[in-house]
Amino acid sequence: NTSGKAVTCWAAIAWKKNSPLSIEEVQVEPPKAGEVRIKMISSGICGSDDHVLKGTFPVKFPLIPGHEGAGIVESIGDKVSSVKPGDKVLTLIIPQCRECNSCLHRKGNFCEKQDVLPSSGLMLDGTSRFTCKGKSIYHSFRVSTFTEYSVVPEIAVAKIDDAAPMDKVCLISCGVPTGYGAAVQSAKVTPGSTCVIFGLGGVGSAIVMGCKASGASRIIGVDINEKKFSQARALGVTDCLNPRKLKKPVQEVVMEMTGVGVDFAFEAVGLVDTMTAAWESCNKSYGVCLIVGLASPESQLSLEAAKIITGKTLKGVCLGDYKTKDCIPQLVADYLQNKINIDPLVTHQLPFDQLHKALELYHAGEVIRCVLLF
Ligand code: APR
Ligand code: ZN
Repeated sequence: NTSGKAVTCWAAIAWKKNSPLSIEEVQVEPPKAGEVRIKMISSGICGSDDHVLKGTFPVKFPLIPGHEGAGIVESIGDKVSSVKPGDKVLTLIIPQCRECNSCLHRKGNFCEKQDVLPSSGLMLDGTSRFTCKGKSIYHSFRVSTFTEYSVVPEIAVAKIDDAAPMDKVCLISCGVPTGYGAAVQSAKVTPGSTCVIFGLGGVGSAIVMGCKASGASRIIGVDINEKKFSQARALGVTDCLNPRKLKKPVQEVVMEMTGVGVDFAFEAVGLVDTMTAAWESCNKSYGVCLIVGLASPESQLSLEAAKIITGKTLKGVCLGDYKTKDCIPQLVADYLQNKINIDPLVTHQLPFDQLHKALELYHAGEVIRCVLLF
């Protein structure tokens, strides 16, 4: 029984930005009040982890990266009531505290207890639960998952169905709600509509699934990596565009293809240029542009001001607008009842000790999602 004691286990540490991860022995403290310690079972590798490791998204180093996790509660701190040891849970990069302005608002989901923007790398009490070689290690978004054990706030875990296949459902921690929710919950894509999706990675593919499920009749997929096109077509993309092979800007091509611009444009890359292209692909009167990708906080978006008056909408969306702790278990239930199928998104699975191979496959653009198995 490990409850109440520090656990020694393997974890991946990024000692500084842009350097290879090293798998090290770490000590994971027991959970304090309002916290839970999880034995990780699986973790996805998400585009946001890549932004973190490259340093394009600012965080504190050294840290244990990863945030798209599925695990089993090993022990709980004082005052924890929503989960107990043995429960299957998903980590929540955006928690749901149920007390802040955003949580109490009917529509808000960007809980004020989040640790993404800005990122302290510490638990809610301002301290870390990880040490390596006597040195304190930062958490990633309070939900580090590239580790055999992690401590996370109770508000940042969602209890899920015991029947959930743990080697896949980690995607429902982040990529699936982020993408699928952007289409069905935030944009509310309408039957017969035309959509364009910039970026056909894990998140973009989940957006395609949401557009298809909502009855969109034309779904244009944009990516600079043509290896993503066959999978995108299988999920419902009707037209694929590689901006690097076009003679004019991609938004002009989308305008020509559709005549009037799209009803819904989604950006799932995290770059200013693709955000601008998505905005300019929208119908000027009723088009809606959704920003799903995580941009660097230093970057600025510049839009032609006069063209906003024509009626189009620019909307940001995080975790699909879902109130995470309430809604994410329902997505797992929907998966178990075959209402959504996440299986095509899991193109690769590798044991945690092959993390470097998994990152190589990610960087080579070979995967939609590679799931790490502990
Ligand atoms: N134009 C079009 N597509 C691009 C471009 C570009 N300039 N640059 C990269 N891409 C494509 C990549 O080839 C890849 O297929 O965007 C895709 C990104 O996919 P992933 O790396 O799998 O990332 P994902 O997990 O899908 O996340 C996408 O959403 O919330 C976020 O932070 C996340 O910003 C990230 C975005
Ligand atoms: Zn909150």
